[in-house]
Amino acid sequence: MKLVASQAEALGGRADIPGDKSCSHRALILAAMAQGESRINGLLKSDDVLATAKAIEAFGATVEWTGATCVIEGKPWTSPAEPVACGNSGTTARLLMGAVAGMPDVRATFTGDASLSARPMGRVSAPLERMGARIDGGDGLPLTVCGTQLGGIEHRNVPASAQVKSAILLAGLGSDAPVTVVEPVPSRDHSEIMLAQFGCPVSVDDTSEGWRISLGDRRSLSPCQLGIGADPSSAALPLVAAAIVPGSDVVAPGVIVNPLRTGLYETLEAMGADIELSNERIQSGEIVADIRMRHAELLPCHVRPEQVTAMIDEIPALAVACAFAAGESLIEGLGELRVKESDRLGAILAGLTACGVVAAVDGDSLRIFGRGEVRGRASIATLGDHRIAMAFLVLGLAAQQPVEVDEAEMIATSFPGFVEVMRSVGADIQ
Ligand code: S3P
Repeated sequence: MKLVASQAEALGGRADIPGDKSCSHRALILAAMAQGESRINGLLKSDDVLATAKAIEAFGATVEWTGATCVIEGKPWTSPAEPVACGNSGTTARLLMGAVAGMPDVRATFTGDASLSARPMGRVSAPLERMGARIDGGDGLPLTVCGTQLGGIEHRNVPASAQVKSAILLAGLGSDAPVTVVEPVPSRDHSEIMLAQFGCPVSVDDTSEGWRISLGDRRSLSPCQLGIGADPSSAALPLVAAAIVPGSDVVAPGVIVNPLRTGLYETLEAMGADIELSNERIQSGEIVADIRMRHAELLPCHVRPEQVTAMIDEIPALAVACAFAAGESLIEGLGELRVKESDRLGAILAGLTACGVVAAVDGDSLRIFGRGEVRGRASIATLGDHRIAMAFLVLGLAAQQPVEVDEAEMIATSFPGFVEVMRSVGADIQ
């Protein structure tokens, strides 16, 4: 299915954003590891998260949806009869590899779609193997993990990856040895926050080598009730649209504003965006807030490598904002984008160029020479990547001529209802 976005009148109103994807995966996996009934509100019902839900059922948990609540009954894990299909979801594969690695007598093979099968898994297998894990396979999926009694580890998490850190912490739940991850640049800490909600506090020390994140002595999880805030990566789409479409004023309520996720919003603010946070509160250990964005003239930005981790999934949306900022923007340290759901750096460059924006990639850096206006009139190759599809549809809302994306089904991996939410604030997406 193709979609076309055309120049919109001012966008306005409330954009209801579904639950955070990272937190939804973690909530399902931790609830499945805790013996008994956990209740999760606001869980994201996207293809990626449904892959995790199916996987935990295959390991023995029961999952029931009653309205906005998902009820999970955690049971001792058993080996699934079939390979665990992770679809397009790196988080499903990497976190479950960790969880299984530390469970003696559980064995599972993980498979993925073509994109996921081509993504590196050695970054997870290597530290797990140092803990004593038994893993058969190469750098990509399929891989088979045979759970066993694990030892400890001190792992330096470079390049910063929350999936690698989380796999190690989940594996460590099956060990009684010291388990520490050291992060010179911190990655998102949803696993640490949620482990505490399930009764396993994790310590975090700020040291000269970076953050030292260590599992505590208590390694068994208790079931709990959680509420999941709206996904800041999904909220980025209607909010960037509001920033670039003249006259817009859009509010996204209840968005997770964990500082390890808000790099895009800080960058937009530095670019002169009219952004306002209100109603900040704590929900299940995470900070959430309502984010209001009004249109403003944007200035170009300079993003340094250490700033990228806190906006790693929002770089396509940031690149779109930069295209509308008059002047040269420079975003450095984008090497990790090459191993996401597509070669995202290549896809951003090709998409911008197709829309008449002058841009260049130099090593891991992206330069965008904005003119304050964008021609559009392009068909974008999404390479099956949900975030590329959504970002370029947003670009089309402020471009002079319509922008088409070649394939839109993949949007459901992270943001089902994207088109409806965008239309609800006035976007013209057909
Ligand atoms: C995620 C971590 C990030 C992010 C991905 C989700 C997570 O990946 O890009 O979409 O839920 O832990 P890395 O762990 O590779 O940084």
